[in-house]
Amino acid sequence: MCLAGLVLVIRRPRVPVLSPAKVAVPAKARAAVTPNAPNSPFILQLVQVTKQTSDSTTLRFVVNSERKLDARPGQFLTFSFLFDGKKETRCYSICSSPARSGYVEITPKRVKDGCVSVFLNDRAAIGMTVEATGPFGQFCLTPEDKKIVLLAAGSGITPMMAMLRYLDDLCLDTQATLLYCVRTRDDMTFRQEFEELRGRLKNFQYHVLLSKPDADWPGARGHISREFISKNVPEIEGRVFFLCGPPPFMEAVRRILTEMEVAPERIRQETFGGAGVGPKPPLLRTAETGFTIEFASSGKTAALLEGQSLLEAAAAAGVDIPSACRQGQCGTCKTRLLAGYVHMTAEQGLDPESRARGFVLTCVGHATGNVRLDA
Ligand code: FES
Repeated sequence: MCLAGLVLVIRRPRVPVLSPAKVAVPAKARAAVTPNAPNSPFILQLVQVTKQTSDSTTLRFVVNSERKLDARPGQFLTFSFLFDGKKETRCYSICSSPARSGYVEITPKRVKDGCVSVFLNDRAAIGMTVEATGPFGQFCLTPEDKKIVLLAAGSGITPMMAMLRYLDDLCLDTQATLLYCVRTRDDMTFRQEFEELRGRLKNFQYHVLLSKPDADWPGARGHISREFISKNVPEIEGRVFFLCGPPPFMEAVRRILTEMEVAPERIRQETFGGAGVGPKPPLLRTAETGFTIEFASSGKTAALLEGQSLLEAAAAAGVDIPSACRQGQCGTCKTRLLAGYVHMTAEQGLDPESRARGFVLTCVGHATGNVRLDA
């Protein structure tokens, strides 16, 4: 039996363990934790701010709720931040180990000309409270994953960190190889901790690829390539590949893995930026479907365009429906359908109760006739 609680104290002196009443570290190893269905928001309070790099900061929140925040390693939360008189909703991957369910950490990277990411990096103050729903997402480690390859670029490293910390906390002997692509040495998040994990986890390997290395950098240089993956993962049989990074990175890695004949079911991916989180560029669709969408609460009606989601139609009509992931994962955009039929391309963000009450996910919902929404 692995005495995870004891190991935590001995192995992880850098991580202050909060009082037992607030932090639930399992007394013995668990192979997995139960996923939490989307429900009412958690109230989280910021208790610690740690600078990681010049443009990324780890924020630790304690969970001020009777309900336990049961995440699986790799999942994300949808946060509602209130500042400067505005409410902003964003999704952030959890980077702390889900084995420590009394607190949760995220590491937002400051986005140039960003809004929430700038606030979180520069102005988030200890004591601040936020609402969060979730955890969401299918991008997670399962008990069956015994050999994993984590391919991360930029801030795509955060869900990978949650997975590795989880392996460490539960003393799991999963074979894990992390391939981390980042611009410069100074942009490497969690650098010190990866070195420590390398010493503690006997089945962990860690390779960094810098696209803009300094002259003294002794490691690999350039962009993600088949050579880099093959060199560091010589045996791909039986491995599950986790991909997280910006869209161009994801496309490149997918293409390479396909060339290497990795089966699609052994590839899991999480995209951020681009078509996922954040505002989408204005649509150039013009062809009308002949269907109309009526927003009952706003008293507005609009024509639906080809391929247009309900969320896009609402934005075009000036009807505000909050959204976050725009991938059908988080449930932020759920809205009650009062009349008509809607086809959804994903439904993970819809809990059974909401589904039974007639809610639809507007970000991935497309009308198949005239529809009426409670918005
Ligand atoms: S915005 Fe996340 S499910 Fe629609």
